[in-house]
Amino acid sequence: MTTLALHRFGPASDVPVVLLHAFPLDSRMWEAVIAQLGDVPVIAVDAPGFGKSPLLTAEPDLAVYADQLAGSLANEGINSAVVVGLSMGGYAAMALSATHPKLFCGIGLLDTKASADDDAAQANRLSVAEAAEGSAGSDAVAPMIQAVLGATTHQERPEIVEVMRTWLAEAPPHAIAWAQRAMAARPDRHDDLAKLKVPALVLRGDEDEMSPAQEAHTMAEALGPDTQLVTIPRAGHMSAIETPDQVAIAIRSLYLRAQP
Ligand code: MLT
Repeated sequence: MTTLALHRFGPASDVPVVLLHAFPLDSRMWEAVIAQLGDVPVIAVDAPGFGKSPLLTAEPDLAVYADQLAGSLANEGINSAVVVGLSMGGYAAMALSATHPKLFCGIGLLDTKASADDDAAQANRLSVAEAAEGSAGSDAVAPMIQAVLGATTHQERPEIVEVMRTWLAEAPPHAIAWAQRAMAARPDRHDDLAKLKVPALVLRGDEDEMSPAQEAHTMAEALGPDTQLVTIPRAGHMSAIETPDQVAIAIRSLYLRAQP
């Protein structure tokens, strides 16, 4: 088994909040949220090929990422966690919930969706994967800058736009390709969410153009009555980077709800 990079913050605990980052970033995207979660045990994960995690040789599949994650956590003695994922991190959390439901004592799904891609979205991912492996390299994801940040961030938070531009330029091309192919292959996860009986958070930036409000509602409906549905004004698809204080409040509240 490949061991994924796990970055620990806050007090030691064998029931931490596990943070799964968006595409094509790494665990650094959670820095500002973690700074507000000082009293909460946190493990921030680097997805395969991103940050300090090695690229996997297996066929691209989020279920493979999920298995490696479960194994990496078990190696650290962690068999129960509040798993929180943003966008691709949410897809990975849902894949993990399908195969390792007992690991979950809470779930947070941020700026993500449980539905599968349509044909056009799949084709787009495959062409980005090819471009990343070809002469474009990391430039294949540069155009994402427009859609991943909300209108307010583009107008009023130039420092965040610049950080995001830098992170997109640093994205490793082979990890871009692996993750795009894995995301293209992901199935609909609503039925898996309906089987999870744990406290849940569904959160979305109000200006998120990539994860529609309707998707947040269907996830919340599938997860059932113990779900908090949060909409953050003046945030886009990267709510954790654009409005970290409010995202940290929602994650802390989920963590407290998940305590036995
Ligand atoms: C992400 O932020 O992780 C990506 O936008 C996910 C996606 O491409 O669907």
